[in-house]
Amino acid sequence: MTDRYAVVGNPVAHSKSPLIHAEFARQTGQDLEYGRLLAPLDGFRATIEQFRSSGGKGLNVTLPFKLEAFELAQRRSERALDAAAVNTLKFESDGIYGDNTDGVGLVRDLEANLGIAITGNRLLLMGAGGAAQGVMAPLLAARPAALVVGNRTVDKAQRLVARFRARLPDGAVRASSYRDLAGEQFDLVINATSASLRDTVPELPLGVFAPGSAAYDMMYGKGLTPFLELAQRQGAGRLADGLGMLVEQAAESFFVWRDVRPLTAPVIAMLKSL
Ligand code: ATR
Repeated sequence: MTDRYAVVGNPVAHSKSPLIHAEFARQTGQDLEYGRLLAPLDGFRATIEQFRSSGGKGLNVTLPFKLEAFELAQRRSERALDAAAVNTLKFESDGIYGDNTDGVGLVRDLEANLGIAITGNRLLLMGAGGAAQGVMAPLLAARPAALVVGNRTVDKAQRLVARFRARLPDGAVRASSYRDLAGEQFDLVINATSASLRDTVPELPLGVFAPGSAAYDMMYGKGLTPFLELAQRQGAGRLADGLGMLVEQAAESFFVWRDVRPLTAPVIAMLKSL
């Protein structure tokens, strides 16, 4: 029987995951189906249980359910614990396994696809919500020289930094308001805020982008996102949106479920051409 997977969210109609996983399955010759599952906002658990009891093997979890998925998982990976969120569920005979592939997806897109170095470089992570929390551990594991979390609400950045401070030498992981970044320069600036959803972008002081620096938006869209437009205006040398991260996190989920690693480059190219 064909194994069944899906992405669960609300809304979920726009998700590119079914297209990505169909390509992965075709490319690797895996016999699976991958669909979309719309869960009512108050009905995540019931939706999951119904999918599982009808033979479903695993799910990707998207907004707004990543926390609920974390709570529902009976076993959790180290990556899920670091992110305090789950984007990948695997239904096993002895229970529900929860993992998080977002952070590794970002790091792979940066390092392997784009050739943007993290190690030894100065990073600014904008935002301190779930999206930022999900990528902290893998970014720090790549040993940047410094990682500053910039956020509109500084308390929230401070709480996030407190969880991860010990992973780099003293003082290398810090929180800041956007305004207090004046006078600092970064080699890589990553936007993990949801401001782009409202077509806005937090103001950054001029000079934050070092010459030749890279700007990465975890969001993606047609053309440049508002953050990438700002980065371009302020002199960033390289601009990338989150499409590669989307495909890389999907590839890692596919690997968690199937133990097979699909090629991502052709799928990224296919999505760009749409
Ligand atoms: P997510 O899970 O997508 O990260 P979230 O937890 O609601 O969503 O966090 C959203 C992030 O985007 C936060 O860092 C938020 O800043 P605050 O903590 O100050 O609220 C940031 N954000 C959203 N809209 C923003 C805007 N217009 N300007 C600046 N920051 C914004």
